[in-house]
Amino acid sequence: MMDAILDRKSVRTYVKKPLDAHDLELIGDIIHNLEPKKGPFGHQIRYFFYHQDTLLDDEAKKIGTYGFIKNAPSFVGGVIENSFEAIVDYGYLFEHMILSATEEGFGTVWLGGTFDRSAFSSYTKSNEIIPAITPIGYEADRRFFEKAIRYVAKADRRKKFDEMLFLHDRNHPINHESIDGFMKRCLEVVQVGPSASNKQPWRIIIDDGIVHFYLDKTPNYATMMPFDMQALDMGIAICHFEQGLIEANQKYQFKVLSNHQVPSWIYILSIEISK
Ligand SMILES: Cc1cc2nc3c(=O)[nH]c(=O)nc-3n(C[C@H](O)[C@H](O)[C@H](O)COP(=O)(O)O)c2cc1C
Repeated sequence: MMDAILDRKSVRTYVKKPLDAHDLELIGDIIHNLEPKKGPFGHQIRYFFYHQDTLLDDEAKKIGTYGFIKNAPSFVGGVIENSFEAIVDYGYLFEHMILSATEEGFGTVWLGGTFDRSAFSSYTKSNEIIPAITPIGYEADRRFFEKAIRYVAKADRRKKFDEMLFLHDRNHPINHESIDGFMKRCLEVVQVGPSASNKQPWRIIIDDGIVHFYLDKTPNYATMMPFDMQALDMGIAICHFEQGLIEANQKYQFKVLSNHQVPSWIYILSIEISK
């Protein structure tokens, strides 16, 4: 998973051919394996896999990605309860899906804003939502278009450690040089994670072996959406941090603590690392 975290980037232009039987089986297996998994807040995703034997040009138009996502042969999405904690879980679980697909050599891109939810409305029941989907296919040669989007989204830029990472409290930013070992690696894989419009709203306070995750919401961002888009980013950050702990064979526990609120950030959860 760590290699996939480091390799992954958003793919918006795909090779123009439907997936073959082997690919369909691979994606089916990924979904099947992830289906029972729960997020840190205990929610599960009900996945759907949308593909056809012919290219999805007309379908893609309906899904509302036309012109923005090119030649996607299939889409994977999921349904979850529409609550803040469930959306964090969706970010966490769906990133496992994205990384598993990356490991198998597929291209993906999180789509939270640029698709039409009503195209999939038959999948949802009341108080459920499809927070995001991804196309799945093979990456085509990157064109000018993709590069332009990456430029607009400043996709290759990531916040520095001292903009997202703090020791004991918010007044003590940590820089890249003052941290080492597995903790540094865990934070580096959070740093490279995808986030909606590359806003990277995750903030982390490390305090005596406990790592607290916060959301620093971008003002006026995605307010028209029927759920909190940046809660997805938090789930992704937690997924990546956990993969770093797993790689380092660290024992840890997710905890929701009652006394770690800080002004203007939203407390999500903490990870207690065993000494
Ligand atoms: C929750 C979420 C929603 C996103 N929604 C969209 C989207 O609607 N359209 C799009 O083109 N990219 C979308 N992205 C992709 C981001 O723009 C991209 O991850 C970010 O710019 C960093 O680039 P990278 O993924 O290549 O590292 C989304 C990413 C996340 C995590």
